[in-house]
Amino acid sequence: MYRQEIEAAKAHFARILEAQLQRIEGMKQNESFIDYQKLDKIVIGIVGGDGIGPYIAAQAERVLAALLADQINAGRIELRTIEGLTIENRIAKMQAIPDEVMGELRQCHVVLKGPTTTPDQSAGMPNIESANVYMRRAFDLFANIRPVRVPELNIDWMFFRENTEGEYALGSQGLSVTPDLAVDFKVTTTQGCRRIIRAAFEYARLHGKKRVTVVTKANVIKTTDGKFLSVAKEIAKEYPDIVCDDWYIDIMTAKLIDPSRRSEFQVLVMPNLYGDILTDEAAQIQGGVGTAGSANVGTRYAMFEAIHGSAPRMVAEGRAVYADPSSLIKAGAMLLEHIGFRQEADRLQMALDICSQFERKVVLTGRGDGATNEAYTDYILETVALPNLGERYQGFLDQLRSQ
Ligand code: IPM
Ligand code: MG
Repeated sequence: MYRQEIEAAKAHFARILEAQLQRIEGMKQNESFIDYQKLDKIVIGIVGGDGIGPYIAAQAERVLAALLADQINAGRIELRTIEGLTIENRIAKMQAIPDEVMGELRQCHVVLKGPTTTPDQSAGMPNIESANVYMRRAFDLFANIRPVRVPELNIDWMFFRENTEGEYALGSQGLSVTPDLAVDFKVTTTQGCRRIIRAAFEYARLHGKKRVTVVTKANVIKTTDGKFLSVAKEIAKEYPDIVCDDWYIDIMTAKLIDPSRRSEFQVLVMPNLYGDILTDEAAQIQGGVGTAGSANVGTRYAMFEAIHGSAPRMVAEGRAVYADPSSLIKAGAMLLEHIGFRQEADRLQMALDICSQFERKVVLTGRGDGATNEAYTDYILETVALPNLGERYQGFLDQLRSQ
């Protein structure tokens, strides 16, 4: 029965295995991380994307330009606009990222990227892969790092989401074996687990964090998640000063909204899809996905983005100028820290907390009854420039603690 279909599926599977084994050989080379301090010039690509993307990217660019003004004037940093990563161009070229755009991206060291629309096949659009997923894979951006902080609730989480494997590795290469049988694949490699788990532990050590929480569903998904968990336990032995606990994803989603437990979590590390889901939940606790930034980091490239989509509805309803730019500005703060401008990153982070959580003098609602993203960014720029920013921030924190 179905001999031909099964043979075709086997051949497809063989090709997949070959490609994955080859990818492992690449990871084994174990490249070391680029040192930005050693570069004569750092090129930061700015990609607008689709929908609200160009609107919020323009605001994030203003913030970077202000904080890096001296470096830009001295020619040590260049902010370079990259055109063409639009849904129209991608459909015209039938490519997840058109070749000419890839060429430009390769010339940059880091990229700040607005959200890009993923074509929806059910809406009659062609089957093109998500630009994010493609870029993460093409540049091997294996660590998706997503902070969520709510000082008021004593929440300070750092999520390390594996970014190139799991269900995403072959998301566009599943098999319809017969009209009735669909099979997708989940890929987990020892090397892939090691590098993300090590990144989480290194972050914890560097930032004085005492706990790393591993999230899987290893009780059911035994082979792939089982590998992730056992690699984590192995690596944890190298960090005896850090507690390593493990949770299953289902109960983890519950614990994030459990006030008696959630502030205990500090650094969390998990396979790709669980990280996708859990970080949306976490961002909602912080005020919505519009408030969360994200770093996609590899050894040679890094890309910084919002965790939300392009919100075409906001554009269609004429509300793009009211879209919250915080997510991408926060991604900008992560970019600054990544390329070695820790002080500037800290200032921006403090300004974001003051403007969005403490002082809230200018408020965005996503609609005409709230501020425009330009006015909100003006507010952030004024705050970032305050000579007594550090004391002001401390003042707000003290006030919170005394409540
Ligand atoms: C994210 C997004 C992407 C993902 C989409 C746009 C493909 O949800 O960055 O979390 O699933 O990774
Ligand atoms: Mg997501």
